[in-house]
Amino acid sequence: MIHDIIQISHEAGGIVREGFGKILSIDYKTNEANLVTDVDKLSEEHIIEFIRKKYPDHGILAEESGESKSGSEYLWIIDPIDGTTNFAHGLPIFSISIGLQKNGKTIAGVVYDIMQDIIYAAESGSGAFANSQKINVSTNDNLAHSVLATGFPYNISENPENALEKFNELIKTSRGIRRLGSAAIDLCYVAKGVFDGFWEVYLHPWDICAGKLIVEEAEGLVTGFKGEEVDIFTRRILATNGRIHSRMVEFLRK
Ligand code: IPD
Ligand code: CA
Ligand code: CA
Repeated sequence: MIHDIIQISHEAGGIVREGFGKILSIDYKTNEANLVTDVDKLSEEHIIEFIRKKYPDHGILAEESGESKSGSEYLWIIDPIDGTTNFAHGLPIFSISIGLQKNGKTIAGVVYDIMQDIIYAAESGSGAFANSQKINVSTNDNLAHSVLATGFPYNISENPENALEKFNELIKTSRGIRRLGSAAIDLCYVAKGVFDGFWEVYLHPWDICAGKLIVEEAEGLVTGFKGEEVDIFTRRILATNGRIHSRMVEFLRK
């Protein structure tokens, strides 16, 4: 099945790459910061059409078109462009994220970094890979030597969960914080050891389904802000190399 997910990611990635830099039709979702373009919709339609043809009885949860329930034990969780703001503004950092669950457990996940042409892929129990090269989290155990990543939700003007205060404290305690604009790529960079940790509030299952498995298969740790076990429906996520996890929990649990 992972080969199917990689194939659809490549195909939909071609559609997104083709649309990059062109004039877009942009609609707003919950507010003027929360965009959706016609290319998000085309990418999602392509992915869903593939799944419907090959796995007609499987369930689908997709960001732009919602959930189609089924009696199947399989559920596909799709973000057709993770990083739409970057995409719409000409910044080449965005991805496609597709996770597959069986009976509520993620069994496979792919994040396609489209403009760098890197497929991050993992199957439960088989390790994590970037273009077929095995990847692992970093071995750094010192928060002061860590490069972290975060993101902000579209309702950041309301400062949900004191997101700005947490940022303010961690930026003074770490080597630096990056805000790439694609949570799925942030998670893959934790898996690859580029970032030592990543946290964000108010994410959605399609942002994290594939990336969470990729981090775990790269021997990283993904929990909530108190260090508790979470599923992909959680609104707060902390992903690290495991070694700086408890230090980050000290900051985030407040
Ligand atoms: C967004 C990106 C961003 C994160 C936002 C997400 P979208 O997804 O992952 O990095 O900070 O919280 O909503 O809207 O581009 O699919
Ligand atoms: Ca997203
Ligand atoms: Ca999206």
